Amino acid sequence: MKASAHDSAVLHVRGEARYTDDIPLPANTLHAAFGVSPVAHGQLRSMDLGAVRAAPGVVAVLTAADIPGANNYGGIVADDPILALDTVTHVGQPLFLVAAVSRMAARRAALKANLDIQEHPALLDIRSALAAESFVMPSKRLARGDPDGELKRAPRRLSGAVSMGGQDHFYLEGQVAVALPQEDGAMLVHSSTQHPSEVQHMVAHALGIASHAVTVTCRRMGGGFGGKESQPALLAAAAAVMARHTGRPVKLRLDRDADMISTGKRHDFLADYDVGFDDDGRIRALKVMLASRCGHSADLSGPVNDRAVCHLDNAYYLEHVEIVSHRCRTHTVSNTAFRGFGGPQGMMVIEHILDDMARSLERDPLEVRRVNLYGIGERNVTPYGQTVEDNLLPDLIDQLQRDSDYASRRGEIAAWNAQQPVIRRGLALTPVKFGISFTNTAFNQAGALIQIYRDGTVLLNHGGTEMGQGLHTKVVAVVARELGVPLTAVRITATDTSKVPNTSATAASSGSDLNGMAAQAAARTLRERLVEFVRERDGIDLGAGDFAEGWVQLGAASIPFGELVEQAYQARIPLSATGFYRTPKIHWDMNRLQGRPFFYFAFGAAVVEVAVDLLTGESRLLAVDILHDVGSSLNPAMDIGQIEGGFLQGVGWLTSEELCWNADGALMTHAPSTYKIPTASDWPETARVRLFGRPNGEATIYRSKAVGEPPLMLAIAALHAIRDAVASTPAGAGRPRLMAPATPEAVLWATT
Ligand code: MTE
Ligand code: MOS
Repeated sequence: MKASAHDSAVLHVRGEARYTDDIPLPANTLHAAFGVSPVAHGQLRSMDLGAVRAAPGVVAVLTAADIPGANNYGGIVADDPILALDTVTHVGQPLFLVAAVSRMAARRAALKANLDIQEHPALLDIRSALAAESFVMPSKRLARGDPDGELKRAPRRLSGAVSMGGQDHFYLEGQVAVALPQEDGAMLVHSSTQHPSEVQHMVAHALGIASHAVTVTCRRMGGGFGGKESQPALLAAAAAVMARHTGRPVKLRLDRDADMISTGKRHDFLADYDVGFDDDGRIRALKVMLASRCGHSADLSGPVNDRAVCHLDNAYYLEHVEIVSHRCRTHTVSNTAFRGFGGPQGMMVIEHILDDMARSLERDPLEVRRVNLYGIGERNVTPYGQTVEDNLLPDLIDQLQRDSDYASRRGEIAAWNAQQPVIRRGLALTPVKFGISFTNTAFNQAGALIQIYRDGTVLLNHGGTEMGQGLHTKVVAVVARELGVPLTAVRITATDTSKVPNTSATAASSGSDLNGMAAQAAARTLRERLVEFVRERDGIDLGAGDFAEGWVQLGAASIPFGELVEQAYQARIPLSATGFYRTPKIHWDMNRLQGRPFFYFAFGAAVVEVAVDLLTGESRLLAVDILHDVGSSLNPAMDIGQIEGGFLQGVGWLTSEELCWNADGALMTHAPSTYKIPTASDWPETARVRLFGRPNGEATIYRSKAVGEPPLMLAIAALHAIRDAVASTPAGAGRPRLMAPATPEAVLWATT
């Protein structure tokens, strides 16, 4: 497929694209704010809200007791109260909701509560939760072969710990919802959400009404990155409860600090490992204890940690292996989905282990990575039982290694480092293998609705949401191609639960795989109806190729698509259709962690070169070479954008974004002044980002591959390039004491 601009590109740059915060509001709209807990763990003995109610502009104040339906927005486990009832479990937890005539009035009033909370000791980090055996759900184990026996027999053995920090989503548009009461008890909700159907169900539950009375809609988000998969239900349900209570529209938008303090993030993880290997660096056996900080509730921690377990192998064959996975309950925000969904954390563990092994063998880490790669036709079954078919990595890495001049640069860097006392350079190549599909098999379905109007223009709806990734642009292109009309003839409107029901979250990178196929099915149904109409009327058999660029080839004559549509209308041919898709081949036993959870794998690799200043600890990307597999691209421009953005977001996670809590469990880094995300100036001067270009071996939409999440993990090469530079110093030699994020402080600590 051809490159085309994002369908909202012009609106984006002109500031005309409408986000939830831009929607014009009825004159009687109220603005809401949460009153939140200042303590991490305690008994909520009483709340005196007199001063809140008396504050200027306040119209209503609600507590948990005022919620007419279920006080919960937890999608998988019902352990997430909308408003806390009697125990508080993290700083920033919503306790009550204020509605006032303006947002500032509501926020000011929310600070006036007189709270009586008896504090209890709080578990704030993974190690203390492990010691207390505080888990959000039972631990899991994935094992194969005889890891204990093979560890003993292996010629070499290393053990150690790996840790990595969490990450705030820092979507440019924060969490926001607007609830508009409709006639007869119905509710319309505008929500910045990746998961309109879940928001619909949670709003219905909170109000105690049926799903058919709730409509949720979202034209676009200003970024989601996984942070708008489960959490928008909290804001939507709270706004809807207040709207029901007051009978007025209610808007609830968190400002940046409140958003960072009160919402979940990427899980930080730690792992203890014991690895046995031979003199070539080939892994004989591996045992890993993996633990994550889930926060106060389950949220999506179950599947996030399962994905971490299923990506701990990354690109490498582990014959004898045991992974134990603990999901730690702490008194902090409930961590959630974030681009890669646990996959990046799992991969970080094995990449760290391989780096440690290589340095103990005094070998280039790339050599050690290569001897452990999954084979082609052998050594190709993952620990969870899925065969790695169509393994592109050996070829892809060969090509990248050649194109990036890896070998000669390795030599130049060694020579440079031998002479430079202050600025050290480092180089790393790391691969990515990422499984595409939701591990929950039921989520791998999608629906679409297409309507053709009498002028030949097409209105498209599907279950996916747009968060900047270009999903709508891709699905429009599918429909335009199937109907043989120009892109401009197809308009996509807001995702809407009243048009396409029971949709999955736009997540797991599967938006275009699922919705592209559903839309294709709907478009083909409509095209077939037109073909059938012409066959009966004219005796002409039209093929797909007879529909092109807005014209239809009718024997010798060519007529505009719109004309044929009008003729079909006159002949009473239905011009709207739904389409449906379910991913084939997949099955998964989530208790035994066995099966084929993924339809296919997306592959990629990156070579990153960095410079590190040993006096300040600062590091900079010098050059990046990326070769990434998107199958046959649905839109090369969009895919390159996803690769570049995902990579740099990963670089932020691993090098500059650091979440710091104080001893009382309060987040100290809740604004851009203290939490540093990458900016355009962090993009390296030299960057070569290329698509690998081989069609998907599985029959996906036009043989494309998902691209949303996998490129984030290419950034692991940036961390390992910094590690490589650190290893050139006396203090960093051997196994560098450098974990993620590799902030300047961490680099200084590892090199002095
Ligand atoms: N790209 C942009 N610009 N903004 C986003 O919020 N989210 C990422 C990725 N790329 C995101 C993004 C995440 S976490 C996922 S799962 C996918 O997009 C979801 O969209 P897709 O399935 O259509 O790729
Ligand atoms: Mo993406 S973390 O699956 O929303």
